[in-house]
Amino acid sequence: MIIGFVQTKGGTGKSTLAVNTAFSGHMHRKFGSIALVELDPQGTLKAWWEDRDEMGYDPGKVSFHHISSTQKQVFQQGIKSISDYNELMIMDIPGESTGKLHTRFACAYCDLVIIPMRMSTNDESAFMNNLYPIIKEIIRAVPEKKGQFKVLPVFTHPLQSWQNCFNYFDDILPYQVSCLPVVFPARSVYENFNRRGLNLNEYAQLVQSNKKFTHQVGRAIEDIEKICKTIIKAGKGNHGSN
Ligand SMILES: Nc1ncnc2c1ncn2[C@@H]1O[C@H](COP(=O)(O)OP(=O)(O)OP(=O)(O)O)[C@@H](O)[C@H]1O
Ligand SMILES: [Mg+2]
Repeated sequence: MIIGFVQTKGGTGKSTLAVNTAFSGHMHRKFGSIALVELDPQGTLKAWWEDRDEMGYDPGKVSFHHISSTQKQVFQQGIKSISDYNELMIMDIPGESTGKLHTRFACAYCDLVIIPMRMSTNDESAFMNNLYPIIKEIIRAVPEKKGQFKVLPVFTHPLQSWQNCFNYFDDILPYQVSCLPVVFPARSVYENFNRRGLNLNEYAQLVQSNKKFTHQVGRAIEDIEKICKTIIKAGKGNHGSN
């Protein structure tokens, strides 16, 4: 299965979601091998991976691949060979690239395209102007792709119900794109934990003597597990279409 976190707008949580879903318990129970692939030349995840490598953290089932080329043939070939050897591939797609090359590729290639999006008119118009035309174009060319584009509401207030967010997006999204029944809430733990090259479980171990941090990271782990379960459920039926 190939999952891409795609959003032409920057800073919406793509890299954070890619890394945390790759290391989630749910994905580890479901898949024998997991490739975390960063196509972003800025290398946010590469730096993070090098940090954890230096500290000797066990990658478990996760392998990391950074493809910095901006030439379509080169990254397409790289991804093809990684996907041949992994049951699950999670891709972190850069927000900006010339001609939105990476975005186009991911929208066409992934079994499931997850679009992290804030509940704001700003994000809504950015989506309608930049990403939606690409999605429409791809569905026009390959109608079976319909149903593979899912918005994940991000940075929601931790007390806000997913149903409210779902209703909001259900109202504004075009019919080819639907909203997942789950949210990625704003939590300070996401701003802090990944700076040290740790995944959430390793961070939980590190802060286990601090009740407040332990509680925070516990909530974050719950968010990620819920997101993974919902993504896999949404992806059923799409797998193998490429
Ligand atoms: N759920 C969250 N709550 C609070 N802060 C978050 C959350 N997820 C991510 N962040 C923070 O928001 C910032 C942007 O996140 P991230 O780098 O994952 O976004 P991105 O979409 O990959 O950005 P870019 O488009 O630049 O690649 C980071 O500082 C990250 O730590
Ligand atoms: Mg990023």
